[in-house]
Amino acid sequence: MKEQLEKLREEALLLISGAEDFAALEGARVRFLGKKGELTAILKQMGSLSPEERPVIGQLANAIREALDEAIASRRQYLEDKALSERLVKEELDVTIPGTPVKMGHRHPMSIVLQEATDIFISMGFSVAEGPEVELSEYDFDRLNIPVGHTVREWQDTFYVTEDEAVHLRCQTSPVQVRVMEKTKPPIRIISPGRVYRKDEVDATHSPMFHQIEGLVVDKGVTMGDLKGTLNALVRRLYGPETKTRFRPHHFPFTEPSCEVDVQCFICGGAGCRVCKGEGWIELLGAGMVHPKVLQMSGIDPDVYSGFAFGIGLERMTMLRFDIDDMRLLFENDMRFLSQFQGV
Ligand code: DAH
Repeated sequence: MKEQLEKLREEALLLISGAEDFAALEGARVRFLGKKGELTAILKQMGSLSPEERPVIGQLANAIREALDEAIASRRQYLEDKALSERLVKEELDVTIPGTPVKMGHRHPMSIVLQEATDIFISMGFSVAEGPEVELSEYDFDRLNIPVGHTVREWQDTFYVTEDEAVHLRCQTSPVQVRVMEKTKPPIRIISPGRVYRKDEVDATHSPMFHQIEGLVVDKGVTMGDLKGTLNALVRRLYGPETKTRFRPHHFPFTEPSCEVDVQCFICGGAGCRVCKGEGWIELLGAGMVHPKVLQMSGIDPDVYSGFAFGIGLERMTMLRFDIDDMRLLFENDMRFLSQFQGV
């Protein structure tokens, strides 16, 4: 029996120390030390031993059990260490590899130009006002001296929100003038950028939604000279100090006198070309001296105060700034177009 035990020890130790993974190790443990294991099986024959032999064999059996337990523990430790170091090698992090850059977005060309224009106006003492896009007809029309019957109040021009025509999507940023005037005592010097809506078909120069920058200055002694000086300063800072402007008489219900301001064509320099349709000039904005009736309707005394106002098309301004010949490019979100403004 002693030999049997020693043979078992030898065989078991060999198997344990050679176990290549946890399953093989567990297999060896069950095979030798399990309830139905080989050591147990040998010990079950102890009854047939003489009383002298029994303690000797018992001791040997215990020693073997301990030796196997120890061998299994140390092999398990070895396998665990090995697994860990393999994992560490596999998951090694090379901090010297350059990182994958995060793809940054960038500003839309209209945001770029709006920011430029806003900076210019702020440098001239203007602040930025806001108004709602869903507007009362009273603000967008009546109090801008656009009475019932005027063409822009027609259903085919205007997106009405209510059947009684009292609420609509504003067709200009001019109602912000009224909102500012009724709340603020002069001096007033604001711009108000925002979206406006008209029932226009989409083409190279039209969209049912576009953007304007409204401007309003009200103070004592404001003249047409101030209007020209301000708008010339804007145009020259946006498009270069040599840029020529033309103030052309026009009509707006809320200004008197009114004008439109053209910029000399940046393509042909005034000779006439496809972009300016042979005119040599490109229209940029509408402006004028605030109509006394408009001042009065908002509680400002036209005998004391005067003012000028303007409305610039932001799409037009952006197209001029970057030589863009189709307005649809500004709204179609084509990355081949937009990505050209990265870093501008
Ligand atoms: N609201 C006008 C438009 O949409 C533009 C405009 C013209 C605004 C003259 C003004 C102005 O403030 O004085 O066509």
